[in-house]
Formats: sequence, C-alpha cells, structure tokens
Amino acid sequence: MKVFVLNGPNLGRLGSREPGIYGSTSYAGLEELCARTGAECGVEVETRQTDHEGELVGWLHEAADADSPVVLNAGAWTHYSIAVRDAAAQLRAPLIELHISNVHAREPFRAKSVLSDIATAVVAGLGVRGYAHAIRWLAERDS
Ligand code: DQA
Repeated sequence: MKVFVLNGPNLGRLGSREPGIYGSTSYAGLEELCARTGAECGVEVETRQTDHEGELVGWLHEAADADSPVVLNAGAWTHYSIAVRDAAAQLRAPLIELHISNVHAREPFRAKSVLSDIATAVVAGLGVRGYAHAIRWLAERDS
C-alpha cells in the first residue's frame, strides 16, 4: 500500500511559518517524519506539497486512480475549495483530513471545512505528530 501525504499552500514554510501555531519542525522534517513512520509500519509514503490548487487536484486524481489512501492537509483550501473537495470525493481508499493546529480553537472561518463530510476521519491539533498517527492508523487498518 502506498499512502499519499498531500499538503497545500504555505505548508512548505513549516518551521518558519507562525511557529507558535504550527511548531518548529520544518517541511523537510515533516517529510522525514512521514518517511520514517511509513518505514516503521511497512508502508510506502509519498509526501508532497504545493502552492498551486490545480496541482493538488491532479495529485488527488492520481491517488484516486491508484486506489491509494490520502492524508490531506489542504491548508486554507480546506475552508473553501470546491475543486479540491470534488477531487477528494473521487478517492475510493480512506481520506484523512489533517490540520496541524486545532482549527476549531482559532478564527471562526477555520472551523468550516468543505472536506470533513467526505473524509474518513479528521485529525486536528496534534501538531506534526498528527501525520504519524494518521499514517499508522492507515497501515494498521490495512493489515
Ligand atoms: C492548517 C489550518 C488552516 O486553517 C491553515 O490555512 C493552514 C494550515 C493546519 O494545518 O492547521 O494552512 O490546515
């Protein structure tokens, strides 16, 4: 099984971006965490990040065609992108919506998600460790 970990806008700036909210782990550190977790669980993990909505839509099509599960941190697109939702709705394997911060404890506009009702599960507020938990859950579910 291959798990896609897909990240949307501004997540490439982890580490320097509002560290009080998103923590001090860099995006490279996040990639490393995901790869290490995958290796420990015996699953292949492919971690990607884009600031371009169409690119994320294409990656979701790729995951849908491959029947692969997805851990998706769509960043700000979570809150309004119907294009990302429509692409995510095509997935047949589980979709985990993930947020590093607890979006429900922040500005009201972050509490709305166009993804949650089509997601298998939602992880929010566990910091970057949430990615490791999501990957482990997917690996255990498949074994
Ligand atoms: C985020 C929360 C979003 O509201 C924000 O736009 C992000 C990151 C998170 O991981 O906590 O870019 O998805």
